[in-house]
Amino acid sequence: MTYRIGIVGPGMIATTAHIPALLKDGRAEIAAVTSRTHETAQKAAERFHIPGVYTSEAEMYANEQLDLVLICVPNAYHAASVRRAFEAGVHVFCEKPPAMNAAEASLMEKAASDADRHLMYGFHHRFQLETIVLKKAVDSGELGDIYHMNVQAVRRRGIPGWGSFTDKEKQGGGPLIDVGVHMLDLAAYISGFPKPVEVMGVTHQRLGRKPGVGLLGDWDPHTFSVEDFASGMIRFENGSSLVLETSYAANTAEQERLNVSFFGDEGGADTSPFRMYGEKYGALLDTTPVFLDKMEDRDAYDRQLTHVLDVLDKKAAPAPPNQGTYVQQLVDALYESAATGKAVSFR
Ligand SMILES: NC(=O)c1ccc[n+]([C@@H]2O[C@H](COP(=O)([O-])OP(=O)(O)OC[C@H]3O[C@@H](n4cnc5c(N)ncnc54)[C@H](O)[C@@H]3O)[C@@H](O)[C@H]2O)c1
Repeated sequence: MTYRIGIVGPGMIATTAHIPALLKDGRAEIAAVTSRTHETAQKAAERFHIPGVYTSEAEMYANEQLDLVLICVPNAYHAASVRRAFEAGVHVFCEKPPAMNAAEASLMEKAASDADRHLMYGFHHRFQLETIVLKKAVDSGELGDIYHMNVQAVRRRGIPGWGSFTDKEKQGGGPLIDVGVHMLDLAAYISGFPKPVEVMGVTHQRLGRKPGVGLLGDWDPHTFSVEDFASGMIRFENGSSLVLETSYAANTAEQERLNVSFFGDEGGADTSPFRMYGEKYGALLDTTPVFLDKMEDRDAYDRQLTHVLDVLDKKAAPAPPNQGTYVQQLVDALYESAATGKAVSFR
């Protein structure tokens, strides 16, 4: 079966990851693209041979019979674009974070349910081969009881120089809502979405507002309105805890560290580089998998979109969208605590 797919926002992530992933899968026909300007929509259409070119989502839905739409606009526009897609009866894959805040994510979840359509989010780290193995290991009890998680999405100099990532109005925040959210989702997904009871967060704006080295392009320090560093701690009802550090820019050793460490009473694990830590046969034993799939030309973005098409094919079950709302609640609480200087209680 071939699915007719629309693209909303043919920017960096849509054109470098998602459209190529769909084309590799072979079950997708990219039928239409919509962007703010005709020029950007036309450019994507020419590059990927997309017949339908629009500057209005409403017009696209009126003219095209679509099965699925990929929402890849800045975060501030996710909620409205998702609502328009469900009004047109189209399944949605929406980039992360789900929205600007949990209130919007919760409305999007309800809209999906009312429309009886799928709402899937772009948390592609769930589709890393390492994650797939670790999830099986944790679910089978290999790590025992996970009592602590250390979440890091730290860049030494990685302020995005494209798009609107330094504009709080369009993105809702900086590294926490942008890259920290990926690792928070990973921690929650692997550990089974434990119920939070208390959240404490701190944000800083130290390096982004002055000129400096831009390893992900140039940004404008004068309009930089997001945090460049955030840290936090979360206590969960099951007694476990999570600490988080995330940055666009920080004076630290590695250019990028994207990792979640899990501490369990039977074993531990790091997601990147992937390793599991245990004790067996009177010795401390580390486990590292060998992935033959890594030789294939498929990455986590490709596997993510194959999964989305498998869901449409009814060969796979989608992650429920309330998982996205859950992660967004944690992000909201970290920002709220940073703003007020007080812990946020979920009781
Ligand atoms: N999963 C990932 O690894 C990953 C990576 C990068 C970005 N993202 C997410 O994807 C989304 C887009 O990021 P990007 O890097 O592709 O950004 P981008 O700026 O390259 O692309 C954004 C697209 O949205 C359009 N757009 C911009 N403002 C708009 C507006 N006001 N109304 C309608 N359309 C508008 C732009 O024309 C462009 O086509 C964001 O939500 C971001 O968080 C995810």
